[in-house]
Amino acid sequence: MKFAEAERIKNLPPYLFARIERLIAEKKKAGVDVISLGIGDPDRPTPAHIVDVLIAESQNPANHQYPSSVGLLRYRSAVAEWYKNRFGVELDPATEVVSLLGSKEGIAHISWCYLDPGDTVIVPDPGYPVYSGGAILAGAKPYYVPIYPKDGYLVDFDSIPPDVAKRAKMMFLNYPNNPTGAVATGEFFQRAIEFALKYEILICHDAAYSEVAYDGYRPPSFLQFPGAKEVGIEFHSVSKTYNMTGWRVGWAAGNPDVIEALGRLKSNIDSGVFQAIQYAAAAGLTGPQDSVAEQNAIYQERRDVLVEGLNSLGWSIEKPKATFYVWAPVPKGYTSESFAETVLEKCGVVVTPGTGYGKNGAGYFRMALTIKKERIVEAIERLKTGLGQVEF
Ligand SMILES: Cc1ncc(COP(=O)(O)O)c(C=O)c1O
Repeated sequence: MKFAEAERIKNLPPYLFARIERLIAEKKKAGVDVISLGIGDPDRPTPAHIVDVLIAESQNPANHQYPSSVGLLRYRSAVAEWYKNRFGVELDPATEVVSLLGSKEGIAHISWCYLDPGDTVIVPDPGYPVYSGGAILAGAKPYYVPIYPKDGYLVDFDSIPPDVAKRAKMMFLNYPNNPTGAVATGEFFQRAIEFALKYEILICHDAAYSEVAYDGYRPPSFLQFPGAKEVGIEFHSVSKTYNMTGWRVGWAAGNPDVIEALGRLKSNIDSGVFQAIQYAAAAGLTGPQDSVAEQNAIYQERRDVLVEGLNSLGWSIEKPKATFYVWAPVPKGYTSESFAETVLEKCGVVVTPGTGYGKNGAGYFRMALTIKKERIVEAIERLKTGLGQVEF
């Protein structure tokens, strides 16, 4: 029997990384020692003091029952305390923070709260695919705003046609940015707030990489700028900060009406995050932060090896200030896809084609710094042997 798929899923491409994982598995099966720069998933463990709290709390039967879908007040207070210490942002943990099963879940679900079929949402291109995926599932129409290297990959609000801005109900932003590694200034966020106020648009800022930064740079939060709470929310999680991608715990914070709506939607869909995990994440947010600096020093060294290695082969890439991604143009004669295929075939190295993040990612590819330095050195050696010097 053949089941007819619903329209909403027919238009949904398979999730980018599902394809990459399949490709890697095929190569490995064929005996290739694959070096994957493809997926941004921290390779180092969660700090021990966080794991210890999980162990202790998982032994308490009170934590074995259904959690509340909006999160323990203890967890939401830890998020508020962290925002206060890190950004000077005041949040009411009872009304301005909601727990999420990882920020991805909230990013996908927020569209269900504010977008009806046919509604417009502004999505940066290239961008994290879940912004458009969630919106498409809700029946909405993403308007893709291209972001360009000439603007430091910041959205140019003046490039959005006024009729689009007028009908748009929501807009996603993400700095530090996946996939480009771009960072935003305070002036940029202020411009975003002005734009949102003018056109009555809900801003959903994704700050997943705010703690992964280099050379002493500290990315700002959208919420620290005047008026932000009036127009938006910020998504975040402990995934990248404390190497907790597998734990599935995050949050949304900001405008209380939006937080309430997201919590209401979620109470009809999921039953929250295992409480022991919430206690452990709270310990991460309120405990010692040394692991973050240590982690960033490791990524920074890997970044330097990768960027300097590629530049020695003919690229001229600037070192990103934040995120664990390096975004680079493909050499002359390649498309994003043909370049990714060539380096996999010739070098056994996985990179992600820029088009996986949107049409405007064409001509680029992304590499993640989540593998050991020695493997990055080897990947560069293999590119040198397989491709030689490249031209643009
Ligand atoms: C830009 C961006 N936002 C959000 C996420 C989701 O992270 P999580 O669901 O683990 O919080 C990711 C994960 O890769 C990401 O790259």
